[in-house]
Amino acid sequence: MARIVGMIFGEVGYRDFNFIVTRGSKLQKGAYVKVNHDSYGWVLAQVGSIKRYNEMYSLNVITGGQPKEGGGERVVAKAEVIGYVDEKGLLKSPKIPFRPGEKVYEADSALIKRSLNLGIRSGIYLGLLEGHAERVPVYLNVNKLIQKHLCILAKTGAGKSYTVGVLVEELIEKKVPVVIIDPHGEYAALRNPNSNPKEIGLMSRYGVSAKGYDNIVEYTPNLSLNPQADRKLALDISRLSIAGFLEMLPTKIPESQKGVLFEALQIAKSHGKYTLDDIIRIIQEHKSRAKWNLLTSLEMLRESRVFEGSPVHPRDLVKRGVVSIINLRGVRPDIQEIVVTRIAEEVFNDRKRGRVPPLFFLIEEAHNFAPERGFGKSAALGVIRTIASEGRKFGMGLCIVSQRPARVDKSVLSQCNTQIILKVTNPNDMRAISQSIEGFTSDLEEEIMQLQPGVALVVGDVVEQPIFVDIRVKKSRHGGASVEVVKEPRETRIPSPGILRRLFVR
Ligand SMILES: Nc1ncnc2c1ncn2[C@@H]1O[C@H](COP(=O)(O)OP(=O)(O)OP(=O)(O)O)[C@@H](O)[C@H]1O
Ligand SMILES: [Mg+2]
Repeated sequence: MARIVGMIFGEVGYRDFNFIVTRGSKLQKGAYVKVNHDSYGWVLAQVGSIKRYNEMYSLNVITGGQPKEGGGERVVAKAEVIGYVDEKGLLKSPKIPFRPGEKVYEADSALIKRSLNLGIRSGIYLGLLEGHAERVPVYLNVNKLIQKHLCILAKTGAGKSYTVGVLVEELIEKKVPVVIIDPHGEYAALRNPNSNPKEIGLMSRYGVSAKGYDNIVEYTPNLSLNPQADRKLALDISRLSIAGFLEMLPTKIPESQKGVLFEALQIAKSHGKYTLDDIIRIIQEHKSRAKWNLLTSLEMLRESRVFEGSPVHPRDLVKRGVVSIINLRGVRPDIQEIVVTRIAEEVFNDRKRGRVPPLFFLIEEAHNFAPERGFGKSAALGVIRTIASEGRKFGMGLCIVSQRPARVDKSVLSQCNTQIILKVTNPNDMRAISQSIEGFTSDLEEEIMQLQPGVALVVGDVVEQPIFVDIRVKKSRHGGASVEVVKEPRETRIPSPGILRRLFVR
């Protein structure tokens, strides 16, 4: 039997309605409610605001007046209408106002799932719907997620990497190939089962159990910095065009030297397979005096050792059911840029030619590789922009992760049609987020500022309407370096009294 939580009163519209909250019902902001509409049947709505009022503390009474009859505490809520599901299963908005006096009920999980289209079990299980007492699992459509690009934005410590971890676990289980640009070396922990006692204690709530994953391959351009990696990441020099070469050189070189480099590349290519050492040798033998600056630049590139060893190809990185981690921990920023540029370009080219299967390409600390104008430069920006605008046509889904949304290239952000936003407080970052989300409201902004760690707002094509999701615990271990420092007690999901107070008095 559905629980009555209130009754509609006053002037009533069809987009929202006010209702007086039944005494004793612990209705919270964000809760899902339903009303039986005489034309549409059950209509789902969500509590947008709640206010408590007590006649005894009205201005009239505290300034000496007499309380009116029936004084006492009243709780009044405003609900925003979400809609009803028509015969075709589509979510529709009512066009006829609700009737005053109509009862308001707590919504049931089945209606919520059907109306919000929370997906089927074959989807990506992200966590539980916030705002509803019963457990409503949220599943996202895998194809939509890959075809539409995704960004995960939040302040540091809010749970971005943790959410990425949950996504990646789900993608491995669906056998979707994943490539992760991992500047902090935190994702190889996916191999180990979660051993955090607090999180293990929460697993039954989310219906998951601890598990490590086997098909994780960790690459690094520098094995002495990251000796635990499975394989040295060596880039393939023979896949570099002259333009690509010039882009990588640490210093700009004049036209005369470009000619020398071009000639050397032609000679090297005519011999079949070649290495950076071969090119350097050819240039050393060149008669031109213009060669010395070029040689210095190439020597610097050689010192980076990114072309040393047997090259890793996109077909090695992009495999069904395999997660390839590019661990860049401790690697110099300029070398990180070269690696990201080359890997992104090669993978995208091979995907376009159908040489590798559709994949998910994930970039952590994206503000470093796709910076907004005025926040630094990166050689990788060009290719990331191209993937953002064309990737979906070719089945290369991009996932951009950043704690500084304001510093991420706007055109890249705006191409992400699904956003997962965790707590954000910086006004510039909030502005960048609001600009990249259609129909962003100041109400959502306030919600984002008050989010608890691990709770995310999911917006965009992958959901019917913005929803808050209590991200599930990970099955595997979380590798975030700040684990112990920022961990907060998460057993109780009920907002703290402080947060509740702020919500009520709005
Ligand atoms: N859904 C969740 N369930 C349980 N714990 C979580 C969840 N999300 C985050 N946490 C906790 O919060 C900590 C910080 O999360 P995370 O490492 O994802 O932050 P981040 O946003 O990636 O920060 P940074 O910007 O510093 O990389 C984690 O170590 C974890 O303990
Ligand atoms: Mg992180």
